[in-house]
Amino acid sequence: MARILVTRRMPGDGLSLLGEHEVVGPNPDDRPFTRDELCEQAGGVDAIVCLLTDRIDERVLEAGRGRLRVVGNVAVGYDNVDIEAAARLAVAVCNTPGVLDETTADIAFLLILAASRRAREAEAELRDGHWQGFRIDHLLGRDVHGATLGLVGYGRIARAVARRASGFGMRVFHHARRDTGCEGYVASLDQLIPQVDILSLHVPGGPQTRHLIDARRISLLRRSAVLVNTARGSVVDEAALADALVAGRLFAAGLDVYEREPEVHPRLLTAPRTVLLPHIGSASLATRSEMVRLAVRGVTQVLAGETPPNLVTPD
Ligand code: GLV
Repeated sequence: MARILVTRRMPGDGLSLLGEHEVVGPNPDDRPFTRDELCEQAGGVDAIVCLLTDRIDERVLEAGRGRLRVVGNVAVGYDNVDIEAAARLAVAVCNTPGVLDETTADIAFLLILAASRRAREAEAELRDGHWQGFRIDHLLGRDVHGATLGLVGYGRIARAVARRASGFGMRVFHHARRDTGCEGYVASLDQLIPQVDILSLHVPGGPQTRHLIDARRISLLRRSAVLVNTARGSVVDEAALADALVAGRLFAAGLDVYEREPEVHPRLLTAPRTVLLPHIGSASLATRSEMVRLAVRGVTQVLAGETPPNLVTPD
């Protein structure tokens, strides 16, 4: 019987897959463990089931040296886990690919629609009692149907967004590091950006994509463009985005992820035409429950000496 640290509350029945294994955690109030607490716990367990809010860095992995065998990260992104250190210390890492694509694509599309059609300001105006009745030039937004969509990254979630876009009669282009061989591939991100009405981000987080969308690239967007980020906050320079929105250098932004969650750049909070969601891309009960099951299954398979299909390996 193994001892498993579960760092946070988990929805659904996935933890029951841990069967007879002994579970420690989470904190009763779901408070994230501090880094010191994670290190202390890591030393006494065979596995960790964690969320993207837990930084499983070299220090935590070192603290588990000799006993810790597997980390099940209940997320498809794993920029919170030091994959190289894990490989060096022979700690397997599992994530949750394939089960959240459609749910996250739904939220990307929600942001595309809400930001383009100014749904947040429109709703706030009504709720605040400022609606003065129908006016022909009131809250004019940008059409989504027939617009040109640029996808940055072309993994499963981006492709799920592309499928939705085709139903809206959109023209879809994408950029990825390697030629996808698919229709709509644009090799240069700098050439893609000025062509699109909506730019939606779908690349992993981490040092390679940090501020991929920086002040210079934001300045390449059309003034009428909408930027949507459901990937990782670090991909966008938030201060530069806030500047551009305040100066009216792009039409709107829809964000679900932030550079320093749960903090949101204060100027984004006050910038015009922003739709800001609290990292709920995969947040349907069915999908989050399936993510827990997948991560936990990976953990039990590693503990049983098997190789799970959702094992993450360094690039
Ligand atoms: C959510 O952001 C995930 O990576 O699963």
